[in-house]
Amino acid sequence: MIAPGSTIGILGGGQLGRMLVLAGRALGYRFHIFEPKGPCPAGMVADLEVNADYSDEAALQRFAEGVDVITLEFENIPSAVLDRLSAIRPVLPRTQALHICQHRQREKDFLQASGLPCVPFAYADSPASLKAAVHRIGFPCVIKTAAFGYDGKGQIKLNAPEEAADCDYLWNYLERPPRVVVEKWIHHVGEFSVICARKADGTKITFPMAENVHVHHILHASIVPARVTEATQTTGALLACKIADLLDVVGLIAVELFLDDDGQLIVNEMAPRPHNSGHYSIDACLTSQFEQHIRAVADLPFGSTELLKPSVMINLLGDLWAGGEPDWDALLADPRIKLHLYDKGQPRSGRKMGHFTLLDDDLDDALACAEAHFAKLSGTVTLKK
Ligand SMILES: Nc1ncnc2c1ncn2[C@@H]1O[C@H](COP(=O)(O)OP(=O)(O)O)[C@@H](O)[C@H]1O
Ligand SMILES: [Mg+2]
Repeated sequence: MIAPGSTIGILGGGQLGRMLVLAGRALGYRFHIFEPKGPCPAGMVADLEVNADYSDEAALQRFAEGVDVITLEFENIPSAVLDRLSAIRPVLPRTQALHICQHRQREKDFLQASGLPCVPFAYADSPASLKAAVHRIGFPCVIKTAAFGYDGKGQIKLNAPEEAADCDYLWNYLERPPRVVVEKWIHHVGEFSVICARKADGTKITFPMAENVHVHHILHASIVPARVTEATQTTGALLACKIADLLDVVGLIAVELFLDDDGQLIVNEMAPRPHNSGHYSIDACLTSQFEQHIRAVADLPFGSTELLKPSVMINLLGDLWAGGEPDWDALLADPRIKLHLYDKGQPRSGRKMGHFTLLDDDLDDALACAEAHFAKLSGTVTLKK
C-alpha cells in the first residue's frame, strides 16, 4: 500500500492530471508532475512540476526517484520511457495496457482476439493499401491514424467511393502516417461509456454508464444515468470489467461504446486513465473517477460509485472564450450547477477549458436546463434534443 503522505508522480499535466491531484490531495497525497510542454494545469496544483522532454533520461531518473509510485493522465507515452521508469518505481497502469490502448491497430487486434464486439476494420500502411482497405470495408467508413489521435484528430470519414478516388491525397492529408485503421462507420442510436476501476488484486468497481453526445467529434455532453435499459447498462459494465481484467489494468479503464440499431453494444475504443465522460462523477457520485484512480494506484479500498443524483456534464471549449472570458454569473447562480475551470492560459478553438455539471432529480429537466445554460453562454443552440 502507498500510504497517505506518500508522493504520487503523474506523467502528463493536463486537466485530467489536475483533477487527479485535487482528488488525491484530499486523501493526503503529494504530487509531482512530468510534463514536457511547460507550465501546465496539473503543475499549478501540484507540489512539483518537471518540464523536460521524454528523451531527457536524467530528468526521468530524478523524477522517478522523487516519487513512490508513478501513474499517468495521458496514454501516448513512449514505451521506452515507461520501461525506464518502471525499473525505478512501479508504473500503474502497467506498460502492456498502455501499449495496447495507445495504438488503434493493437487495440482492434486485442478486441477481436478476445472475442469482444468491435467494428469491422482493416489496416493500411500506404496509399495503395489504403485504397484496398477502404474498398474491403465499404462505405461509409472512417480512416483513423493508428497512433496519436484524439478528439477526432487524424480521422477522415468517407461517404462514397468517389471520396476515396485519390488515396495519395488522403494519405498526405493525414500527414503520411506509418499506419492507419479503416473502420466501417456504424449507424448507432447512441454513444455510451463505462469506466471500470481495478486494483492489482483484481478487485473491480464500475461507474454508472454515461450517455455521450459528441459535436464535431468532440465530447459535448454526458448524461447520467444513460437512457437505456438495465440490461444494456449491465452489458456495458460487464464489457468494461472484462477488458480491465484482460489488460490487467491497475487504475481506470474507460470503455467507449456504440449502441447499434439492433440494440448491441460495440466497443469503439478504450483509454487506461480518467476520461472526459467520467467528469460527472466528481459531483454526482460518492467517489469520483479521480479519487478511485488514486485509490487503485495506492492500493486502498474502493469507495462507493453510487450516483447521488441524475446529472448532465457539459464541456466548455475554447470557442466560448472568443469574445473574452464568458459571463459565468447565470451558471454560478443556478444552485444545481458545479463549475470546473482548468486555468489553461490559451483558449484555442476546440480546447477543453472547463466543464460544468448540473444535478437534478429529474434528468429531463437537468438536460433541458444544462442545454439552456450552454446556449446562453455560447449565444447559439448547438444541441439536438
Ligand atoms: N466507426 C465509427 N462509426 C461511427 N462513428 C464513429 C466511428 N468512429 C468514430 N466515430 C465518431 O467519432 C468520434 C471520435 O472517434 P474515436 O475513435 O472515439 O476517436 P477519438 O475519441 O480518439 O478522437 C466517436 O466518438 C464517434 O462519434
Ligand atoms: Mg473516442
